[in-house]
Amino acid sequence: MKITIAVIPGDGIGPEVINQAKKALDAIADTYNHVFLYKEAQMGACAIENTGNPLPDKTLEICRKADAILVGAIGDTTFDNNSTAKITPVQGLLRLRKELGLFCNIRPIKTYEGLIHNSPLKREFISGTDILMYRELTGGAYFGIKELSDDGQNAFDGCAYSVEEIARVTHLAFKSAQKRRKKLTLVDKANVLETSRLWRKTVTEIAKEYADVSLEYLFVDNAAIQLIVNPKQFDVILTENLFGDIIADEASVIAGSVGLLASASIGKKNGLFKPIHGHLSQFKGKDYANPLASILSAALLLQHVGLHEEAFAIERAVEKSILLGITTEDIKGKNNYVASTSKVGDFIADYIANQEDSNLNFQNIHMGQSTII
Ligand code: IPM
Ligand code: MG
Repeated sequence: MKITIAVIPGDGIGPEVINQAKKALDAIADTYNHVFLYKEAQMGACAIENTGNPLPDKTLEICRKADAILVGAIGDTTFDNNSTAKITPVQGLLRLRKELGLFCNIRPIKTYEGLIHNSPLKREFISGTDILMYRELTGGAYFGIKELSDDGQNAFDGCAYSVEEIARVTHLAFKSAQKRRKKLTLVDKANVLETSRLWRKTVTEIAKEYADVSLEYLFVDNAAIQLIVNPKQFDVILTENLFGDIIADEASVIAGSVGLLASASIGKKNGLFKPIHGHLSQFKGKDYANPLASILSAALLLQHVGLHEEAFAIERAVEKSILLGITTEDIKGKNNYVASTSKVGDFIADYIANQEDSNLNFQNIHMGQSTII
Protein backbone atom coordinates (compact mmCIF):
# COMPACT_ATOMS: atom_id res chain seq x y z
CA MET A 1 0.00 0.00 0.00
CA LYS A 2 1.18 3.51 -0.76
CA ILE A 3 -0.04 6.29 1.48
CA THR A 4 0.86 9.90 2.09
CA ILE A 5 1.17 10.94 5.70
CA ALA A 6 1.25 14.59 6.71
CA VAL A 7 3.68 14.79 9.61
CA ILE A 8 3.39 17.69 12.02
CA PRO A 9 6.06 17.29 14.70
CA GLY A 10 4.91 20.52 16.36
CA ASP A 11 6.47 21.95 19.50
CA GLY A 12 8.40 20.95 22.60
CA ILE A 13 9.02 17.22 22.72
CA GLY A 14 6.83 16.76 19.61
CA PRO A 15 9.67 16.35 17.08
CA GLU A 16 11.51 13.79 19.26
CA VAL A 17 8.51 11.57 19.86
CA ILE A 18 7.33 11.81 16.26
CA ASN A 19 10.74 10.68 15.05
CA GLN A 20 10.23 7.45 16.98
CA ALA A 21 6.78 6.99 15.46
CA LYS A 22 8.37 7.41 12.04
CA LYS A 23 11.00 4.80 12.91
CA ALA A 24 8.19 2.38 13.75
CA LEU A 25 6.35 3.22 10.51
CA ASP A 26 9.55 2.79 8.47
CA ALA A 27 10.09 -0.62 10.04
CA ILE A 28 6.51 -1.53 9.11
CA ALA A 29 6.99 -0.26 5.54
CA ASP A 30 10.14 -2.37 5.16
CA THR A 31 8.72 -5.48 6.75
CA TYR A 32 5.35 -5.47 5.02
CA ASN A 33 6.32 -3.84 1.72
CA HIS A 34 4.44 -0.59 1.96
CA VAL A 35 5.39 2.91 0.91
CA PHE A 36 4.75 5.70 3.39
CA LEU A 37 5.39 9.14 1.95
CA TYR A 38 5.91 11.76 4.64
CA LYS A 39 5.05 15.40 4.02
CA GLU A 40 6.31 17.48 6.88
CA ALA A 41 4.39 20.59 7.91
CA GLN A 42 4.41 23.17 10.69
CA MET A 43 1.73 23.94 13.23
CA GLY A 44 1.65 25.55 16.67
CA ALA A 45 4.29 27.73 18.33
CA CYS A 46 6.95 26.96 15.72
CA ALA A 47 4.55 28.01 12.96
CA ILE A 48 3.72 31.25 14.78
CA GLU A 49 7.42 31.96 15.10
CA ASN A 50 8.08 31.36 11.42
CA THR A 51 4.92 32.62 9.78
CA GLY A 52 2.84 34.40 12.40
CA ASN A 53 0.09 31.82 11.84
CA PRO A 54 -0.41 28.71 14.04
CA LEU A 55 -1.91 26.88 11.04
CA PRO A 56 -0.27 28.16 7.85
CA ASP A 57 -2.26 27.65 4.62
CA LYS A 58 0.47 25.37 3.33
CA THR A 59 0.03 23.05 6.33
CA LEU A 60 -3.71 22.92 5.85
CA GLU A 61 -3.24 22.11 2.19
CA ILE A 62 -0.74 19.32 2.94
CA CYS A 63 -3.17 17.88 5.51
CA ARG A 64 -6.13 18.00 3.14
CA LYS A 65 -4.20 16.12 0.49
CA ALA A 66 -2.74 13.49 2.81
CA ASP A 67 -4.31 10.12 3.56
CA ALA A 68 -3.60 10.59 7.25
CA ILE A 69 -2.03 13.12 9.59
CA LEU A 70 0.41 12.43 12.39
CA VAL A 71 0.88 15.15 15.02
CA GLY A 72 3.41 15.37 17.86
CA ALA A 73 2.61 18.06 20.41
CA ILE A 74 1.38 21.61 20.19
CA GLY A 75 2.07 24.50 22.56
CA ASP A 76 4.73 26.35 24.42
CA THR A 77 5.25 27.41 28.02
CA THR A 78 5.47 31.09 27.05
CA PHE A 79 2.01 30.87 25.57
CA ASP A 80 0.62 28.70 28.38
CA ASN A 81 1.56 31.43 30.84
CA ASN A 82 0.37 34.33 28.74
CA SER A 83 -3.36 34.80 29.09
CA THR A 84 -3.47 37.89 26.88
CA ALA A 85 -1.99 36.46 23.66
CA LYS A 86 -4.41 36.83 20.76
CA ILE A 87 -2.69 34.25 18.58
CA THR A 88 -1.87 30.94 20.30
CA PRO A 89 -0.39 27.57 19.24
CA VAL A 90 -3.49 25.53 20.14
CA GLN A 91 -5.61 27.63 17.78
CA GLY A 92 -3.73 25.81 15.01
CA LEU A 93 -4.81 22.39 16.21
CA LEU A 94 -8.37 23.47 16.93
CA ARG A 95 -8.76 25.04 13.50
CA LEU A 96 -7.30 21.98 11.82
CA ARG A 97 -9.84 19.77 13.62
CA LYS A 98 -12.65 22.05 12.50
CA GLU A 99 -11.46 22.51 8.91
CA LEU A 100 -11.09 18.77 8.38
CA GLY A 101 -14.33 17.92 10.16
CA LEU A 102 -12.61 15.68 12.72
CA PHE A 103 -15.58 15.48 15.03
CA CYS A 104 -14.81 12.18 16.70
CA ASN A 105 -11.82 11.62 18.95
CA ILE A 106 -11.09 8.09 20.10
CA ARG A 107 -8.79 7.35 23.03
CA PRO A 108 -8.04 3.77 24.06
CA ILE A 109 -7.19 3.27 27.73
CA LYS A 110 -5.90 -0.05 28.97
CA THR A 111 -3.56 -1.44 31.56
CA TYR A 112 -0.28 -3.15 30.78
CA GLU A 113 0.61 -6.00 33.13
CA GLY A 114 4.23 -4.85 33.12
CA LEU A 115 3.26 -1.42 34.45
CA ILE A 116 0.68 -2.18 37.11
CA HIS A 117 3.32 -2.40 39.82
CA ASN A 118 4.21 1.27 39.56
CA SER A 119 0.68 2.64 39.27
CA PRO A 120 -0.52 4.73 42.19
CA LEU A 121 -3.73 2.71 41.93
CA LYS A 122 -4.24 -0.74 43.39
CA ARG A 123 -3.67 -3.74 41.10
CA GLU A 124 -7.03 -5.39 41.82
CA PHE A 125 -8.91 -2.25 40.77
CA ILE A 126 -7.14 -1.57 37.50
CA SER A 127 -5.83 -4.89 36.16
CA GLY A 128 -7.73 -5.79 32.99
CA THR A 129 -9.16 -2.32 32.33
CA ASP A 130 -10.00 -1.80 28.67
CA ILE A 131 -11.86 1.41 27.84
CA LEU A 132 -12.48 3.15 24.54
CA MET A 133 -13.30 6.79 25.02
CA TYR A 134 -15.28 8.66 22.37
CA ARG A 135 -14.90 12.40 22.75
CA GLU A 136 -16.83 14.83 20.56
CA LEU A 137 -14.13 17.09 19.13
CA THR A 138 -15.47 20.02 17.15
CA GLY A 139 -18.26 21.40 19.33
CA GLY A 140 -19.00 22.53 22.87
CA ALA A 141 -17.13 25.19 24.81
CA TYR A 142 -14.00 24.75 22.68
CA PHE A 143 -15.78 26.24 19.68
CA GLY A 144 -18.56 28.35 21.22
CA ILE A 145 -18.76 32.13 21.23
CA LYS A 146 -15.94 33.61 23.29
CA GLU A 147 -16.09 37.06 24.79
CA LEU A 148 -14.12 39.28 27.09
CA SER A 149 -15.72 42.54 28.16
CA ASP A 150 -13.88 45.77 27.30
CA ASP A 151 -13.04 46.41 30.94
CA GLY A 152 -11.66 42.87 31.27
CA GLN A 153 -13.99 42.08 34.18
CA ASN A 154 -16.24 39.54 32.49
CA ALA A 155 -15.55 36.58 30.24
CA PHE A 156 -17.85 34.21 28.41
CA ASP A 157 -17.41 30.80 26.74
CA GLY A 158 -20.58 29.55 25.13
CA CYS A 159 -21.19 25.81 25.02
CA ALA A 160 -23.46 24.80 22.17
CA TYR A 161 -24.45 21.45 20.65
CA SER A 162 -26.88 20.49 17.92
CA VAL A 163 -28.65 17.14 17.62
CA GLU A 164 -26.71 16.55 14.43
CA GLU A 165 -23.36 17.09 16.14
CA ILE A 166 -24.31 14.74 18.96
CA ALA A 167 -25.79 12.10 16.68
CA ARG A 168 -22.83 11.62 14.34
CA VAL A 169 -20.34 10.83 17.10
CA THR A 170 -22.94 8.79 19.00
CA HIS A 171 -23.48 6.45 16.04
CA LEU A 172 -19.74 5.81 15.81
CA ALA A 173 -19.53 5.09 19.54
CA PHE A 174 -22.45 2.63 19.43
CA LYS A 175 -21.03 0.85 16.38
CA SER A 176 -17.77 0.43 18.22
CA ALA A 177 -19.52 -0.85 21.38
CA GLN A 178 -21.27 -3.46 19.24
CA LYS A 179 -17.88 -4.88 18.31
CA ARG A 180 -16.68 -4.84 21.91
CA ARG A 181 -18.38 -5.68 25.20
CA LYS A 182 -21.64 -3.99 24.17
CA LYS A 183 -21.83 -1.36 26.84
CA LEU A 184 -21.88 2.40 26.36
CA THR A 185 -21.68 4.96 29.15
CA LEU A 186 -22.72 8.51 28.38
CA VAL A 187 -20.88 10.98 30.58
CA ASP A 188 -22.61 14.33 30.98
CA LYS A 189 -23.84 16.89 33.47
CA ALA A 190 -27.54 16.60 32.65
CA ASN A 191 -28.57 17.67 36.15
CA VAL A 192 -27.25 21.16 35.38
CA LEU A 193 -26.49 21.78 31.70
CA GLU A 194 -29.03 22.18 28.90
CA THR A 195 -26.52 20.85 26.36
CA SER A 196 -26.11 17.71 28.49
CA ARG A 197 -29.85 17.21 28.54
CA LEU A 198 -29.86 17.36 24.75
CA TRP A 199 -27.05 14.79 24.72
CA ARG A 200 -29.09 12.48 26.94
CA LYS A 201 -32.24 12.80 24.89
CA THR A 202 -30.42 12.30 21.58
CA VAL A 203 -28.29 9.38 22.76
CA THR A 204 -31.31 7.66 24.36
CA GLU A 205 -33.18 7.93 21.08
CA ILE A 206 -30.26 6.60 19.01
CA ALA A 207 -29.76 3.71 21.46
CA LYS A 208 -32.97 2.16 20.13
CA GLU A 209 -31.11 1.41 16.88
CA TYR A 210 -28.48 -0.50 18.84
CA ALA A 211 -30.62 -2.75 21.00
CA ASP A 212 -27.73 -5.15 21.67
CA VAL A 213 -25.76 -2.40 23.43
CA SER A 214 -26.66 -1.48 27.00
CA LEU A 215 -26.67 2.25 27.71
CA GLU A 216 -25.78 3.81 31.04
CA TYR A 217 -25.59 7.43 32.11
CA LEU A 218 -23.11 8.98 34.49
CA PHE A 219 -22.67 12.56 35.65
CA VAL A 220 -19.16 13.72 34.91
CA ASP A 221 -18.28 14.38 38.56
CA ASN A 222 -19.27 10.83 39.44
CA ALA A 223 -17.46 9.53 36.35
CA ALA A 224 -14.29 11.13 37.72
CA ILE A 225 -14.66 8.96 40.83
CA GLN A 226 -15.74 5.79 39.03
CA LEU A 227 -12.76 5.92 36.68
CA ILE A 228 -10.46 5.57 39.64
CA VAL A 229 -12.41 3.27 41.97
CA ASN A 230 -13.86 0.90 39.37
CA PRO A 231 -12.52 1.48 35.84
CA LYS A 232 -13.31 -2.09 34.79
CA GLN A 233 -17.03 -1.27 34.69
CA PHE A 234 -16.46 0.77 31.51
CA ASP A 235 -16.39 -0.40 27.92
CA VAL A 236 -17.13 2.53 25.58
CA ILE A 237 -17.43 5.99 27.15
CA LEU A 238 -19.11 8.71 25.12
CA THR A 239 -18.84 12.34 26.11
CA GLU A 240 -18.65 15.94 24.93
CA ASN A 241 -15.51 17.86 24.08
CA LEU A 242 -14.39 19.46 27.36
CA PHE A 243 -15.41 16.57 29.64
CA GLY A 244 -13.59 14.19 27.31
CA ASP A 245 -10.40 16.25 27.43
CA ILE A 246 -10.37 16.12 31.21
CA ILE A 247 -11.44 12.57 31.95
CA ALA A 248 -9.11 11.09 29.31
CA ASP A 249 -6.14 12.63 31.07
CA GLU A 250 -7.47 11.34 34.38
CA ALA A 251 -7.89 7.87 32.92
CA SER A 252 -4.28 7.87 31.73
CA VAL A 253 -3.31 7.20 35.36
CA ILE A 254 -4.91 3.78 34.94
CA ALA A 255 -2.61 3.02 32.01
CA GLY A 256 0.40 4.18 33.99
CA SER A 257 1.31 7.45 32.29
CA VAL A 258 -0.15 10.11 30.04
CA GLY A 259 2.84 9.28 27.86
CA LEU A 260 1.09 6.07 26.83
CA LEU A 261 -2.19 7.36 25.51
CA ALA A 262 -2.74 7.67 21.79
CA SER A 263 -5.68 9.16 20.00
CA ALA A 264 -7.40 9.05 16.65
CA SER A 265 -9.46 11.99 15.43
CA ILE A 266 -11.74 11.00 12.62
CA GLY A 267 -14.67 12.44 10.75
CA LYS A 268 -15.39 13.35 7.21
CA LYS A 269 -12.25 12.31 5.37
CA ASN A 270 -8.71 11.70 6.55
CA GLY A 271 -7.89 11.01 10.18
CA LEU A 272 -5.47 12.76 12.51
CA PHE A 273 -3.41 10.72 14.96
CA LYS A 274 -1.72 12.22 17.97
CA PRO A 275 -0.60 11.42 21.51
CA ILE A 276 -2.94 12.97 24.05
CA HIS A 277 -0.11 14.55 26.01
CA GLY A 278 1.12 18.13 25.75
CA HIS A 279 4.35 19.75 24.58
CA LEU A 280 6.37 19.19 27.78
CA SER A 281 8.75 21.94 26.64
CA GLN A 282 10.95 21.62 29.73
CA PHE A 283 12.20 18.31 28.32
CA LYS A 284 12.57 19.49 24.73
CA GLY A 285 15.66 18.06 23.06
CA LYS A 286 16.65 16.01 26.11
CA ASP A 287 15.80 12.61 24.61
CA TYR A 288 13.78 11.98 27.76
CA ALA A 289 10.07 11.97 26.86
CA ASN A 290 8.03 8.82 26.42
CA PRO A 291 7.50 8.15 22.69
CA LEU A 292 5.03 5.28 23.17
CA ALA A 293 1.90 7.43 22.84
CA SER A 294 3.17 8.68 19.46
CA ILE A 295 4.15 5.20 18.38
CA LEU A 296 0.73 3.89 19.40
CA SER A 297 -0.84 6.80 17.49
CA ALA A 298 0.99 5.52 14.41
CA ALA A 299 -0.63 2.13 15.11
CA LEU A 300 -4.06 3.78 15.20
CA LEU A 301 -3.21 5.44 11.90
CA LEU A 302 -2.40 2.10 10.32
CA GLN A 303 -5.61 0.62 11.66
CA HIS A 304 -7.53 3.51 10.15
CA VAL A 305 -6.11 2.89 6.68
CA GLY A 306 -6.93 -0.81 7.01
CA LEU A 307 -3.47 -2.17 7.87
CA HIS A 308 -4.64 -4.16 10.89
CA GLU A 309 -1.85 -6.72 11.06
CA GLU A 310 0.72 -3.95 10.82
CA ALA A 311 -0.98 -1.96 13.59
CA PHE A 312 -0.96 -5.06 15.73
CA ALA A 313 2.78 -5.52 15.08
CA ILE A 314 3.42 -2.05 16.53
CA GLU A 315 1.22 -2.77 19.55
CA ARG A 316 3.05 -6.04 20.17
CA ALA A 317 6.40 -4.24 20.04
CA VAL A 318 5.15 -1.64 22.52
CA GLU A 319 3.94 -4.36 24.88
CA LYS A 320 7.30 -6.07 24.62
CA SER A 321 9.20 -2.89 25.45
CA ILE A 322 7.03 -2.45 28.53
CA LEU A 323 7.42 -6.06 29.54
CA LEU A 324 11.20 -5.84 29.26
CA GLY A 325 11.34 -2.44 30.94
CA ILE A 326 12.88 -0.72 27.92
CA THR A 327 10.95 2.38 28.82
CA THR A 328 11.41 6.02 29.69
CA GLU A 329 11.54 7.48 33.20
CA ASP A 330 7.76 7.97 33.59
CA ILE A 331 7.10 4.23 33.33
CA LYS A 332 10.41 2.75 34.31
CA GLY A 333 10.23 -0.97 34.88
CA LYS A 334 10.96 -3.09 37.93
CA ASN A 335 14.65 -3.14 37.08
CA ASN A 336 14.81 0.67 37.31
CA TYR A 337 16.43 0.88 33.92
CA VAL A 338 15.63 4.16 32.16
CA ALA A 339 15.82 4.26 28.38
CA SER A 340 16.01 7.43 26.31
CA THR A 341 13.30 8.45 23.85
CA SER A 342 15.37 7.35 20.87
CA LYS A 343 16.41 4.09 22.53
CA VAL A 344 12.79 3.13 23.00
CA GLY A 345 12.13 4.01 19.34
CA ASP A 346 15.13 1.92 18.22
CA PHE A 347 13.91 -1.05 20.21
CA ILE A 348 10.40 -0.82 18.79
CA ALA A 349 11.70 -0.58 15.22
CA ASP A 350 14.13 -3.49 15.79
CA TYR A 351 11.39 -5.61 17.29
CA ILE A 352 9.01 -4.93 14.40
CA ALA A 353 11.70 -5.87 11.91
CA ASN A 354 12.77 -9.04 13.69
CA GLN A 355 9.59 -10.07 15.53
CA GLU A 356 9.32 -13.83 15.40
CA ASP A 357 12.95 -14.79 15.68
CA SER A 358 14.06 -11.82 17.71
CA ASN A 359 16.59 -12.71 20.30
CA LEU A 360 16.79 -10.01 22.89
CA ASN A 361 19.83 -9.56 24.98
CA PHE A 362 18.94 -7.34 27.89
CA GLN A 363 22.59 -7.02 28.85
CA ASN A 364 23.24 -5.16 25.62
CA ILE A 365 20.53 -2.65 26.33
CA HIS A 366 22.28 -1.50 29.46
CA MET A 367 25.48 -1.08 27.57
CA GLY A 368 23.76 1.08 24.96
CA GLN A 369 24.32 -1.44 22.21
CA SER A 370 21.89 -3.01 19.82
CA THR A 371 18.89 -4.58 21.45
CA ILE A 372 18.88 -7.43 18.96
CA ILE A 373 21.65 -10.00 18.61
C1 IPM B 1 -5.79 17.18 23.67
C2 IPM B 1 -5.13 18.48 24.03
C3 IPM B 1 -5.79 19.61 23.25
C4 IPM B 1 -7.25 19.67 23.64
C5 IPM B 1 -5.12 20.98 23.41
C6 IPM B 1 -3.67 20.95 23.01
C7 IPM B 1 -5.86 22.03 22.66
O1 IPM B 1 -5.19 18.70 25.40
O2 IPM B 1 -5.68 16.77 22.50
O3 IPM B 1 -6.39 16.58 24.55
O4 IPM B 1 -7.59 20.27 24.67
O5 IPM B 1 -8.07 19.11 22.91
MG1 MG C 1 -6.05 17.15 26.52
